Amino acid sequence: MNIREHYSLRALNTFGLEVKARYFCTLATLGGLRTVWQWQQQYPDLPILFLGGGSNMLFVEDFPGLVVHIKLMERTIIGSDAEYTYVKAGAGENWHDFVRWTIDKGLAGLENLSLIPGTVGAAPMQNIGAYGVELKDHAYEIFAVDWKTAEMRHFSVAECGFGYRNSRFKSLEPNRWLIASVTFQLPNKPTWHLDYAGVKEQLTGEVTARSISDAIIHIRQSKLPDPAQLGNAGSFFKNPMISDEHYQTLKEQYPHLSGWVLEEGVKVSAGWLIDQCGWKGKRFGDAGTYERHALVLVNHGQASGAQIWQLALDIIDSVEQRFGITLEPEPNVVGKPMLSQRMPNVVLTQP
Ligand code: EPU
Repeated sequence: MNIREHYSLRALNTFGLEVKARYFCTLATLGGLRTVWQWQQQYPDLPILFLGGGSNMLFVEDFPGLVVHIKLMERTIIGSDAEYTYVKAGAGENWHDFVRWTIDKGLAGLENLSLIPGTVGAAPMQNIGAYGVELKDHAYEIFAVDWKTAEMRHFSVAECGFGYRNSRFKSLEPNRWLIASVTFQLPNKPTWHLDYAGVKEQLTGEVTARSISDAIIHIRQSKLPDPAQLGNAGSFFKNPMISDEHYQTLKEQYPHLSGWVLEEGVKVSAGWLIDQCGWKGKRFGDAGTYERHALVLVNHGQASGAQIWQLALDIIDSVEQRFGITLEPEPNVVGKPMLSQRMPNVVLTQP
């Protein structure tokens, strides 16, 4: 396994940012971790970053340590019982290709998660979700390696601490576990999730995993920019949760505020809040927000990560001033801690 130097990450982050890794290698087998450990002994003070598809990352500067690009590939149908068929996927598999492969094999469950950018290994980190389904609904177990001690462990879904765009791997023990594979349990008798706005309308003919997947692909393509055409990391902010009282007060003032009443409070649409503050389609140099969805920050070509982050901070400020709600970024922001000073709740992967 070769370690390269001054390696461009432009093709490995969906924002298309021209950033470099001081050191870089590709991990195709777990045996390759030996090289990573040797490198670490040589450079104990430098950070290590495991990278999947780079679809949920904002690099605000060059990475000073070792970037390990995960390429652990596997797709296996393990077997079935009366209720489920169990399917295992390597962390390096492209998420959407894997979803379509399960559909080609006549399996259902993951169709609503079609076209989400990124890899299988990154999917549990933030418990990816879309159109009424989350990864946790169909995950069975996660196989991960504590890359510092070489401990290998299977985590049941209950042990993964999955929440809205969150998991133990992201917040409780960040940078500890390298996810190597994910096993899914896909129901032999599927239940379709068609209630999310627009899904039913988009369906034509018989309802199958494939027709739902096709409908979701169509909806996503009409709303969200393709990272291959316009750099982005999907939703840049989480939909914030506010108290019932706060929601009622805002609703009186803004009757069109969209919110979902849940047990813990009311989840409101970050896209709507940002849109109301006038940010949709705005452009500052090459950093901007997408013209069809205010929640998506985009790189029109040559923006730097720092410019995109500055825009994110300005959006946070304006939403805070107008609605009293502090938006939380969804992607991992990699860079200098000083950039987080105005936003203490941002968890930065600090080199
Ligand atoms: N809205 C606006 N203006 C905008 C965008 C949205 O007013 O510019 C309002 C509309 O009222 C719309 C509502 O926001 O009805 C919700 O928008 P949308 O249906 O696009 O969903 P979202 O809450 O913005 C979430 C996920 C997406 C996922 C969709 C569909 C988060 C942070 N985002 O977006 O996930 O695809 O639901 O399930 O939860 C991602 O995580 O990268 C992502 C794209």
